[in-house]
Amino acid sequence: MSRFYVTTPIYYVNDEPHIGHAYTTILADVVARFHRSLGDNTYFLTGTDEHGQKVQQAAEKRGVDPQQHVDEYVVRFQEKWDALNIQYDQFIRTTQDSHKAVVSYLLQKLWDKGLIYKDTYEGWYSVAEERFLTDKEYEEGEWRDVKQLSETNYWFKMSAYQQDLIDYIHDNPDFIQPDFRKNEVLGFLRQELGDLCISRPKSRLNWGIELPFDTDYVTYVWFDALTNYISAIGYPEREEEFKTWWPVDYHLIGKDILTTHAVYWPTMLMAAELPLPKTIFAHGWWLMGEEKMSKSLGNVVKPLDLANEYGVDALRYFLMREMTPGQDASFTHEAFVLRYNSDLANDLGNLVNRITKLIGRNFDHVLPDPGETKPEDADLIQIVGELQKKVREELDLMRVNYAIQHVFDVMREINRYLEDMAPWKLMKTDRERAGEVLYNAAEALRLSAVHLYPVMPEKIATLLEVMGTSAKARFEEDGWFEWGHNKPGTVLGETKGLFPRIEIKESTEEPASLDIKPEISFDDFMKMDIRVATIIKAEKHPNADKLLKLQVDLGAEQRQVIAGIADHWAPEDLVGKSVSIIVNLKPAKIRGEISQGMILAAEDDNTVSPLIPLKDVEAGAKVR
Ligand code: MSP
Repeated sequence: MSRFYVTTPIYYVNDEPHIGHAYTTILADVVARFHRSLGDNTYFLTGTDEHGQKVQQAAEKRGVDPQQHVDEYVVRFQEKWDALNIQYDQFIRTTQDSHKAVVSYLLQKLWDKGLIYKDTYEGWYSVAEERFLTDKEYEEGEWRDVKQLSETNYWFKMSAYQQDLIDYIHDNPDFIQPDFRKNEVLGFLRQELGDLCISRPKSRLNWGIELPFDTDYVTYVWFDALTNYISAIGYPEREEEFKTWWPVDYHLIGKDILTTHAVYWPTMLMAAELPLPKTIFAHGWWLMGEEKMSKSLGNVVKPLDLANEYGVDALRYFLMREMTPGQDASFTHEAFVLRYNSDLANDLGNLVNRITKLIGRNFDHVLPDPGETKPEDADLIQIVGELQKKVREELDLMRVNYAIQHVFDVMREINRYLEDMAPWKLMKTDRERAGEVLYNAAEALRLSAVHLYPVMPEKIATLLEVMGTSAKARFEEDGWFEWGHNKPGTVLGETKGLFPRIEIKESTEEPASLDIKPEISFDDFMKMDIRVATIIKAEKHPNADKLLKLQVDLGAEQRQVIAGIADHWAPEDLVGKSVSIIVNLKPAKIRGEISQGMILAAEDDNTVSPLIPLKDVEAGAKVR
């Protein structure tokens, strides 16, 4: 029996689950379910990353103990995954004792082997990224919030493994996928690889796992987090269990965390003398239309909102069908509705209706006899017979979207077969042959739909029940994937609208007129002095919930501006942003605070968005 071990990243517990997290988790669930249905011994691991500065700060802000904070926050992920029908085998949390013990063990092991050393480092430190920058990074990047810092820390001799890692990547073409990501990592490894700082002094951060050899320090979050992949499956104590699952078949990750997974993690494993993962697979980003998803843009799609509206399986289907793994994909409401209507309501839903209705009407819902296979039937049977292999090949490469397309290709073949054979006509001339055709169509439908089960477990279970396959028995029964599994005489059920079409509401309202203000002269316009300003400080207005108090930099001077955008903007998301401000508006006191100017912002029914220059321009630059 084959075995299959798949993981998702462990998500920052502070984050609210969004479509990006949901995508990776559903992808892992789909491949895990597929392997289970093939009878493979399967393990699917997900969880949360619960240490680090951001968690400590969030807990402080709420005035609660960090452990209480993470205990309360983790539930949001667990509930979402339950609601999205995610069948993980373990949900690991980095604050659980069993995990912490393994991180300590690993650190001690590397320390004992002389692979960790103490050193003082002076350099540029990014407060936002919680790490030191290399000189090159500092020079080439645009960094806010960086400072010179001198700190004594513990370092892992990552550099010692640079050549071994390069060789390994060359020798194991499947190690980093897709291929272009492998090249990205090799490119990164062309520069000299430094050592990895794996500690943080407690004076700066104490929400972490203590170093076993120096309790004045806690472990760097990534060293802690990556270890989850082995601590969850019994390393080092439960040797049998660990050997069963390690090395992992697939680490599924997003492209932004490729370096940590394809450089830090393998070198850590080499140091611990453990085998490396079989494949690290980096997928692309979900974009909202053309834009990146971000809190400050206010376009974060919460997975459950969509599932509530259209059903869990419709969401799972869309995410799996629409993204070519490795590439970025775009989420829009229109694309969602189009995809649902064309694939699920039309192609799949109509085929099920057509076949069950024909058998219902003409054979009293009883599956007729297949009789002897005619050459036209054999073609169909062959096409369906090849499906499993094709689906398996695609899923072995994480190409779920292509696997789905193969299934729908077969569905179209079934439709064509029905058109060609026209059993509704045959009923009048050759009832027996009509029955044979309908048996073949029904069995072809069942056998192709089975392959969509991992993607849409609820809907396909219903469909299979309609097709007369008991939902309970289906996995244990041999031959689930075999032609002829459904026997003549089986009583078929009713479909009850498996995928009702989503009606696209055409707006009947007249387009609203723009309601333009009376014309002004160019001179009138030129009276306004609009400048670009950088927000350097933002806080809530002390006397008004809807207002923010901003300090802005105009280059030659700084000013205070009050803005009515508190319903749409968190102060911390505004700091550092360049906005446009009318600077010659008469100053006014707004609820007790002086406002020396006004921010320009676009407003619609949903949001208010300050206007920003598309390119970097200096603070104080004129806007015309
Ligand atoms: N905690 C680390 C991972 C540690 S794994 C040992 C982390 N967590 S995260 O919550 O910030 O991100 C988890 C995953 O979500 C990443 O793989 C990231 O790529 C993915 N996504 C976040 N936004 C995304 C999209 N818009 N689209 C697709 N996935 C994206 O990083």
